[in-house]
Amino acid sequence: MNKISAAQLRELYLNFYQEKDHKIIPSASLIPENDPTVLFTTAGMHPLVPYLLGESHPAGKRLTDVQKCIRTSDIDEVGDASHLTFFEMLGNWSLGDYFKKEAITYSYEFLTSEEYLNIPKDKLYFTVFAGDDDFPKDTESYNIWQSLGVEEDHLFYLPKKNNFWILGSGIGPCGPDTEMFYDTGKEKCSPECNPACDCGKYLEIWNDVFMEYYKSEDGTLSKLKQQNVDTGMGLERTISVLNGLPSVYDSDIFAGIKKRLEELSNVSYEENAQSMRIIMDHVRTSTFILADDHGITPSNVGAGYVLRRLLRRTIRHLKKLNITDNVLPELAQIYIDEYQGVYSELSKNKEVVFREMTNEFNKFSKTLKDGEKLFYKTIKHLEGNVISGTDAFKLFDTFGFPIEMTIELAKENNLEVNVEEFERAFKEHQEKSRTIDAGSFKGGLADNSEESTKYHTLAHLLLATLQEIYGPDVMQKGCNITSERIRFDFNCDHKLTDEEKRKVEDRVNEMIVTNTPVTFEEIPYEQAKKEGAHGTFDSKYGDIVKVYTIGNLSKEICGGPHVENTGVLGHFKIVKEESSSAGVRRIKGILE
Ligand code: ALA
Repeated sequence: MNKISAAQLRELYLNFYQEKDHKIIPSASLIPENDPTVLFTTAGMHPLVPYLLGESHPAGKRLTDVQKCIRTSDIDEVGDASHLTFFEMLGNWSLGDYFKKEAITYSYEFLTSEEYLNIPKDKLYFTVFAGDDDFPKDTESYNIWQSLGVEEDHLFYLPKKNNFWILGSGIGPCGPDTEMFYDTGKEKCSPECNPACDCGKYLEIWNDVFMEYYKSEDGTLSKLKQQNVDTGMGLERTISVLNGLPSVYDSDIFAGIKKRLEELSNVSYEENAQSMRIIMDHVRTSTFILADDHGITPSNVGAGYVLRRLLRRTIRHLKKLNITDNVLPELAQIYIDEYQGVYSELSKNKEVVFREMTNEFNKFSKTLKDGEKLFYKTIKHLEGNVISGTDAFKLFDTFGFPIEMTIELAKENNLEVNVEEFERAFKEHQEKSRTIDAGSFKGGLADNSEESTKYHTLAHLLLATLQEIYGPDVMQKGCNITSERIRFDFNCDHKLTDEEKRKVEDRVNEMIVTNTPVTFEEIPYEQAKKEGAHGTFDSKYGDIVKVYTIGNLSKEICGGPHVENTGVLGHFKIVKEESSSAGVRRIKGILE
């Protein structure tokens, strides 16, 4: 078997598929465009959903790429041998072109041929979909593996929970898959042990999904317009398997940061693996989020909240290793160098990365100080030697003071914390925020905080302004709002000059300072149209619609929420104007 580095695996993979007539496409952003249901791109297929549904892709029907992905559902597992929040996914796609036979044949060739991964055939195991009430058994894939020479004892039929793939939201293109596993050589944990078992004997390295179905929000299944192939091979996982490494953190990608952490802390990686892995993972993910060009910064909502959590957890674990200075920019720089030539946005946006990391470091240091003060105030009046879960939760909720810090300080003061009670309060809080999240996503807003609401109203003023300047045919082509900025797409055939940008800014600001009330009424759709209300997504509206009116400036069909008066918006500034796609311009703006 060939030992390889991350850079070699990327190159080998892309070359292989290029030779099979696939076009190499660049990684899309980590923040999904036009999908408010998730915070991050979680799989290579995510940015390709419109094309899997039948839109034509400008690069053709056979594509290959390496996609940056973030999955945070297992964030608490990071620190063990295999979990990462950021990873790269190698993928090849057929958009209504080839299907099972070619996909499986290509996969097998790449895994086993001497020129490519050269994995001994007896080390490979394969699973295919066993079928259920909704979908037939995938005998076709089984037979294809057999025709390539795979023996029956290396082939397993498994149920939907193992061999059927759909995005985490449970909505979208989907289908049965066939997965490829590497046998680590460990003993079977039981006579029944098979690739579905997570004892560590079999490690999944690749997944070929045969997407020919669509699952809609209400659970209905239908056939897609075309049969697609979506595949995913985790780069970090595959590197560690191919090189026989004990964990994903032992690959060349992490060598630089590991060495630096040992130097800074004066302790060994082996004895402090958990904290070091958390730091290695979280610094990498934060660096990629901050460099992603979407203006995401640490905050208390959405992707900004994930980023804040990653950075604060990093700082805590650095502290555990007795590293108390702000080394975040220095650690980020190691990754910026590591990915030089692969993800150019890292070095391009490094100043933003350093600045935001440092800001968050300073903020969190203050939080810790304030939290400590409240901690000592709390224990002053304590009866007995147990800090209640409610008090610990108050520290967390009002100061963002982590429970681990409360426990640590309690120990130093010979006290205990009622962790069970804390966890109950924490769960309740989580459930509450999940409900709020789910509700607000429906409105197309990432959150319904005061700041985001201002941006929502700004969107209406911006559209009205653009229509005033460029004519009534200007349409909103996309809009993405966070509590920190707006990204607004509209049809326009040219790049805006500086003068034009100023004109747009000035007109929006003029509208803001008129202090016009924002009102709404619920009326039949037909009446709204008659009254000239603008509607971006006409087909999405029901019989009765909500119409927001801003004096005589704007009238739009919209779910809201909005501010009550334009005066509260502050000052609008365009920070960037760029192309979004053919004939569509994108304005990124902020309220100051
Ligand atoms: N979409 C498939 C996955 O993420 C390939 O595993």
